Amino acid sequence: MSIKAALFDLDGVIVDTAKYHFLAWQRLANELGFVFTEKDNERLKGVSRMRSLEILLEVGGILGSFSEAEMNEMTERKNRWYVDYISKMDESEILEGSVECLKGFREIGIKIALGSASKNAMLILNNLKIKHYFDAIIDGNKATRAKPHPEVFLLGAKELGVKPEECVVFEDAQAGLDAAKIGGMKTVAIGKPENLVGYDRIFRGLFEVNPKEIAQL
Ligand code: BG6
Ligand code: MG
Repeated sequence: MSIKAALFDLDGVIVDTAKYHFLAWQRLANELGFVFTEKDNERLKGVSRMRSLEILLEVGGILGSFSEAEMNEMTERKNRWYVDYISKMDESEILEGSVECLKGFREIGIKIALGSASKNAMLILNNLKIKHYFDAIIDGNKATRAKPHPEVFLLGAKELGVKPEECVVFEDAQAGLDAAKIGGMKTVAIGKPENLVGYDRIFRGLFEVNPKEIAQL
C-alpha cells in the first residue's frame, strides 16, 4: 500500500459552506451598492478571505478604492455574518458519504488530516461533530500561504509524520488540486470533469470513494 495519509479540504468536500459564504459576501455587496451573483461566487471557491474581497470589489468595479484598514474592516464585517450562519450548522449539513469515507480510511490504518484555508474550520468541525476523525488539523490560522501554495498540505503531512508522496488530497477547487500536485501528493478531485484538471481520480462526492481503492494509488 503506497498511501499512508488522506488529507481533506473542508469547504466543498465535507460540507457545503459556499452558500453561507455567498450570503455574507452578497450582503456586503448590497451594502456597497452593487449586485453579486451566485455565478460570481464560483470564483471565490478555495480562495483566501482577502483575495475573495478583492474579487468581489473587482466585480463591483471598485477595486483599488479602499485603504488596507477599510479592506480589513470589510472582511471582518463579512466574517461576522458568515460566523452567524455557520454557528447554526449541525450534523445534518455533512455532505453524503463523508463520515463513512473518514471511517473507511481509519479502518485500514490511514491517517487523516484536514487541509483548509478557512480560519473558521475548527468551529465547523465542532458543530458537525467530526473533529475526532482528524489526526491533524491544518487551517487558515496555521497555514499563511494561500492555495495553490502547497503549505497547508505539507504542514499536514509533517504533523502526521508521512512523506508528501504517501499522501492523497481530496479537493473541490482547482487551486487546491494544484497545491497538492505542487506538494508532490496524489489527488482526488471532487466535482465535475468539465470544471477541473490535473487529478488522479475524480468523483461527484465522497459517497463514491472507496478508501481501499484509493489507498492503492
Ligand atoms: C476556503 C473557501 O475553504 O476558505 C473559501 O473555499 C474561503 O471560499 C476560504 O474564502 C477562507 O475561509 P474563511 O472561513 O477563513 O473566511
Ligand atoms: Mg474547497
